[in-house]
Amino acid sequence: MTWASRAVPAVAAAVAALAARDLLQRDHALLRNFPVLGRARYLLEAIGPELRQYIVAGNNEERPFTRDQRRWVYASAKGQNNYFGFGTDNDIEFTPGYPIIKHRTFGRAVPPSAPGAGHGVRLPCAKVLGGARGRARAFRPESVVNISGMSFGSLSGNAVEALNRGAALAGCLQNTGEGGLSPYHRKGGDLVFQIGTAYFGCRDEHGRFSLERLRDLVAGAPVRALEIKLSQGAKPSLGGLLPGAKVSAEIAATRGIPRGRDCVSPSRHAEFSDCDSLLDWVELLAAETGLPVGIKSAVGDLGFWEELTTLMRDTGRGVDFVTIDGGEGGTGAAPLIFTDSVSLPFQQGFARVYRIFAERDLHEQVVFVGAGKLGLPDNAVVAFALGCDLVNVGREAMLAIGCIQAQKCHTDTCPTGVATQNAWLARGLDPASKSVRAANYVRTLRRDLMKVAEACGVEHPGLISTDAVEVLDGRTASTPLREVYGYRPEWGLPSPADQAEIVRLMTAEAPQGDSAPPSPTAVG
Ligand SMILES: Cc1cc2nc3c(=O)[nH]c(=O)nc-3n(C[C@H](O)[C@H](O)[C@H](O)COP(=O)(O)O)c2cc1C
Ligand code: SF4
Repeated sequence: MTWASRAVPAVAAAVAALAARDLLQRDHALLRNFPVLGRARYLLEAIGPELRQYIVAGNNEERPFTRDQRRWVYASAKGQNNYFGFGTDNDIEFTPGYPIIKHRTFGRAVPPSAPGAGHGVRLPCAKVLGGARGRARAFRPESVVNISGMSFGSLSGNAVEALNRGAALAGCLQNTGEGGLSPYHRKGGDLVFQIGTAYFGCRDEHGRFSLERLRDLVAGAPVRALEIKLSQGAKPSLGGLLPGAKVSAEIAATRGIPRGRDCVSPSRHAEFSDCDSLLDWVELLAAETGLPVGIKSAVGDLGFWEELTTLMRDTGRGVDFVTIDGGEGGTGAAPLIFTDSVSLPFQQGFARVYRIFAERDLHEQVVFVGAGKLGLPDNAVVAFALGCDLVNVGREAMLAIGCIQAQKCHTDTCPTGVATQNAWLARGLDPASKSVRAANYVRTLRRDLMKVAEACGVEHPGLISTDAVEVLDGRTASTPLREVYGYRPEWGLPSPADQAEIVRLMTAEAPQGDSAPPSPTAVG
């Protein structure tokens, strides 16, 4: 027997064994879906830094999420070391708009310094959702980081389940997205039910909104709030289309539509047509369900916000929360011109809307939620300083459960089973193990936010003020965030009563930091 004839069967057996191992393991969706072949990606990831130095892109060049940002999410989700060595490789000195957080030397809050301190920190919202308007089922959200609306249909059932179970583990909320409330949303996590223009999950057989169905739906699931979707940063003013081929029996049942037929979401709501009728509808939904009711919108023309807030101030009706989605936000599928150029990026859009609420003295009565790459701690800190009370994470949560940013979400060929209805590909994503990753990621983001708050001398990220952030303009100039966005000093913070309460909650059980024992000559 020649050397080659002995080697070939041995190699084939080894490859077969490796393939079997890849197929049966549950940690890596890519390997379950592409046994053996998928290993090339992990190899390239491992030696990527060395290769890239010579041939490809730098750590901060890829979009929407740079390699560094993705590495941080992956490591956080896996509970691995997510530190970076040697110092920043961001071009701080020459990137206009780069935010710098200003720490305090003798701040009020003293951070605990044990390794891993703050990882399990409770980080509730600084406001009570629905509290200002006395909603029957008002509540204080347990977590300032929550999972953004991504419907079953754009995401696979396994992905929705992983996020729902992750939300339960991390004690945060999962927004259903506009595709209705599926069985995969009923795995223990609390929900925000999103109502889109097609009223999926709460529509009658003619496609009309049904209050009765909404009441039944929220009575039979852990829905804590309702979000009326007006628009989404990546595709404002557009409806949606789910092709008939993707309308499976499960999707049809979840959405309340016929199986196998194209499913169209209109571009406008039928239940209201202006700010006045929108506010009437908000009050109707809140009265009928007892739940806090909010709106989600991207920001373009400001006339809508001016009219809405003027009516809120003058008539006493109002939304309990406002979710602002940045133009840099994600989508399952949208035309390029919309993802690239329609609606303002988060910071600018949010600050304009917040100012309009604040000018009418409504900012302390509304919970502000932000979305648009706010699952990265630096972006989230700026959002909190500008007045966000909660941040929603969409694509970062997808990264946490295995997304590799292949950007094929619109093709139904997602290789990691996150954004597909292909049963084989979706099978690769194991909801049990990925839920732990989603939860780890949410906990790590909360920990980082808490650490930054403490560095700024306050007990909670919601107490970080606009004065704590400066925006660099090259190497020699910078402007305080407050000036950049024309805020008054007290804007961006909760009311004094809400501040006192969140400080009480945060300090009641949290360990405080310490120092070495003072020397006999210590003066402080
Ligand atoms: C695959 C996918 C599906 C989405 N589906 C919805 C949806 O049903 N409703 C909605 O309001 N936003 C939807 N979004 C937008 C997100 O909820 C979020 O607002 C946006 O992606 C910004 O957050 P991010 O930058 O953390 O991803 C979707 C985004 C993605 C990536
Ligand atoms: S297609 Fe690519 S970007 Fe979209 S979810 Fe899948 S891995 Fe992520």
